[in-house]
Amino acid sequence: MGEHYQNLASTYDDNWVYSPAFVGWMSERIASALELSANDRMADIGCGTGLFAGGIAEALRPHQPVLCVDPSAAMLDQLPSSPALSPLRASAEEIADQTVPLPYERLDAMWLKESVHHVTDPATTLRGLARLLAPGGRLLVAMLPPRSTTRCSLKPSSGTRSSSPTPLPSPGTCPMRGFGPS
Ligand SMILES: C[S@@+](CC[C@H](N)C(=O)[O-])C[C@H]1O[C@@H](n2cnc3c(N)ncnc32)[C@H](O)[C@@H]1O
Repeated sequence: MGEHYQNLASTYDDNWVYSPAFVGWMSERIASALELSANDRMADIGCGTGLFAGGIAEALRPHQPVLCVDPSAAMLDQLPSSPALSPLRASAEEIADQTVPLPYERLDAMWLKESVHHVTDPATTLRGLARLLAPGGRLLVAMLPPRSTTRCSLKPSSGTRSSSPTPLPSPGTCPMRGFGPS
């Protein structure tokens, strides 16, 4: 998986159907679902090239930089240069088990947009991430719908578009199963 994103990083933003309007809309949806404010300490876990962290930072002007967490150095290299974004090379698992410490004592909000499917044990990792939240903190997992009409996805080997959609977890392997109150 690491090599996949190493190869894709430099053209990642061009390959998706992400218009500036979509990035703005999706960033607003994330900010609204998490009730983000400029005072929040926040992290985008599996941020990729920082498209949405950048969109949120631009709209909110947070008082502390958005932590842009990703295990791929090549993806992080594509982050827009901005004092409002702070890169942190780590996987969700390393943040959750605190192998890689956060620069903030606690977070008020974090989101995983289309990254949770890379996590080996999502329930354990999401529980670990939730423990890093301050009281009143919020965590959002966002995925494309399982029956996405988006037919553009990336072939792992070449970084070009494929006619079949990105494989997503089936309902039987719901990444959220086992996470949250029972
Ligand atoms: C499909 S991209 C999504 C990127 C970004 N969130 C977006 O929506 O544009 C998936 C990202 O998850 C990252 N990733 C892979 N394994 C991960 C892990 N174990 N924890 C966190 N992120 C991971 C990849 O490096 C990649 O940047």
